Amino acid sequence: MIDLKTIVEQIDLLEPVPLIATQIMALAEDPDSSTMEISEIILNDPALAANLLKTCNSAYFGIKRRVESVRDAISLVGLDHIVRLVLVNTVSSNFKKGAEGYGLGEGELWRHAVSSAHIAGILADRFGASKNKHLIYTAALLKDIGKLVLGRFVAFSFEQINILVHSQGHSFNDAEQKIIGMNHEELGALVGKKWNFGDKLIYIIRHHHLSEESARQDLETSLVYLSDIICMMMGVCTGADGLSYRFYSDVLNRMDLSEKDLQGIIAEAGKNQRQIESLLNPLFN
Ligand SMILES: [Fe+2]
Repeated sequence: MIDLKTIVEQIDLLEPVPLIATQIMALAEDPDSSTMEISEIILNDPALAANLLKTCNSAYFGIKRRVESVRDAISLVGLDHIVRLVLVNTVSSNFKKGAEGYGLGEGELWRHAVSSAHIAGILADRFGASKNKHLIYTAALLKDIGKLVLGRFVAFSFEQINILVHSQGHSFNDAEQKIIGMNHEELGALVGKKWNFGDKLIYIIRHHHLSEESARQDLETSLVYLSDIICMMMGVCTGADGLSYRFYSDVLNRMDLSEKDLQGIIAEAGKNQRQIESLLNPLFN
């Protein structure tokens, strides 16, 4: 078995998330945070504010008058979209590299993360979790952050993991745990701790495949899990592990979510593909 200390040390090789992303995430987790607080944080980073205005004035948004201030941008584009633009652009650099071991090339892990986050946003509105929608969005975006570190160890042990998954019916995260001694959920939670993410965000990252019964009782974690499953059903950059996770029908039953409902959500996410593409295009170009 690989020395776990060696794996954990690799977290330091990731590019740390900028302070502004941590601040926005903290506000995103606070249902009482205001537009003013979020715009003040953006204004503290002039380069980000300038790029945000540039993006909001681009043809994509089709705003007839010129967006002159961050406050303007928030009122014209909407706070939700601004928070999402800031989040995806401040945490994107690590994700864009791809994930060796999971069969995901450059940009694919990122596309999956952004699409899954978008679906999580739809689910949050649908299941009355709007109060925590930014937290759910952020968690869906960052849930696989552990793969960025674990990928090279998964690549090294892929044959053994594959045998457990395909011959013995283990889920991919269980197989990671058995062969490597740690799975990408656990490692992702360690990254979150190191980067001072909030407790709930760390909890969702740690349990996003719902292996533990208690996590299946948690609405926000269940919605992030569902966003992952739906994204995989849509075939968005599923990777080598894509179809090798447990499907918990009791989670769907508890939410009173039928197969037809799932198809409706997939159709809605598909319709919004243009919005996802706008999030995938970097602010910083
Ligand atoms: Fe995952």
